[in-house]
Amino acid sequence: MAYPRHRPRRLRTTPALRRLVAQTSLEPRHLVLPMFVADGIDEPQPIPSMPGVVQQNRDSLRSAAADAVTAGVGGLMLFGVPREQDKDSAGSAGTDPDGILNVALRDLSKDLGDATVLMADTCLDEFTDHGHCGVLDERGRVDNDATLARYVKLAVAQAHSGAHVVAPSGMMDGQVAAIRDGLDAAGHSDVVILAYAAKFASAFYGPFREAVSSSLSGDRRTYQQESGNIREALHEIELDVDEGADIVMVKPAMSCLDVVAAAAAISPVPVAAYQVSGEYAMIRAAAANNWIDERAAALESLISIRRAGADIVLTYWATAAAAWLS
Ligand code: PBG
Repeated sequence: MAYPRHRPRRLRTTPALRRLVAQTSLEPRHLVLPMFVADGIDEPQPIPSMPGVVQQNRDSLRSAAADAVTAGVGGLMLFGVPREQDKDSAGSAGTDPDGILNVALRDLSKDLGDATVLMADTCLDEFTDHGHCGVLDERGRVDNDATLARYVKLAVAQAHSGAHVVAPSGMMDGQVAAIRDGLDAAGHSDVVILAYAAKFASAFYGPFREAVSSSLSGDRRTYQQESGNIREALHEIELDVDEGADIVMVKPAMSCLDVVAAAAAISPVPVAAYQVSGEYAMIRAAAANNWIDERAAALESLISIRRAGADIVLTYWATAAAAWLS
């Protein structure tokens, strides 16, 4: 009689057996919480397309950050949202030491010290009146090399304000090398660069644009990558490692799990993946309709990103997931 000699179900018999043979781990320390801090708001402002996520003011940011750290998350990634009247073509509010992001970094650095890993988005799009990630030339195109000089100033300001990690997300060529040189020259050779190395032009960033009150019209296709190009993604990762990236990131996560896996296979440095706003919004929206179980779907999506090979996962569920996991 033909019967199965190999019975994989045997190892699924009890919860204890399943736990013993669980291959991929998902722990609070793997998770980084992206947070938005806005200037000039009295109360935290809900972000309609990201239920449960808010634009924080300085005070509410401090308490949400403390909660995340208590829950055990691995780090915090801060995005600044300036007042409309403080946006300009150069994104000056980002480099201003008294700009909202730098002030908030100082607040959290003072509160939390080295108890967590404090990260800052090193990009201009939140601060520019045109909404692009770089400065524009006279023909309105994003000027790569002029932008690098602005990124160096941003990174140095963030490092001065207490960021342990700066995270250039603009996909300019040479951004990691320029920032590394700038940080070292300013005495910040210990500050880590987490490079958004393979960042695709993605429809899944839609809710984020609302979250940061983006001024962008048009798209970012002259600097972010086309979805189909994995060879180019790996080239970007190699370049960033070569330029001194300490951690490389793939973004978005769920539609790029193959890229995460390929990156993990070649990268000599840790690999992060960003579960972006649209990924969060989809599951939240389905859960709000009782079409999907939020907790189960969120944890499954997070473990799939870890299984693909990400060491670190940025997720808007970081605090909640840390609680679910402990
Ligand atoms: C750019 C930046 C973006 C995100 C993180 N950094 C938006 C963009 O590239 O348009 C998206 C994050 C998300 O969607 O959650 N500074």
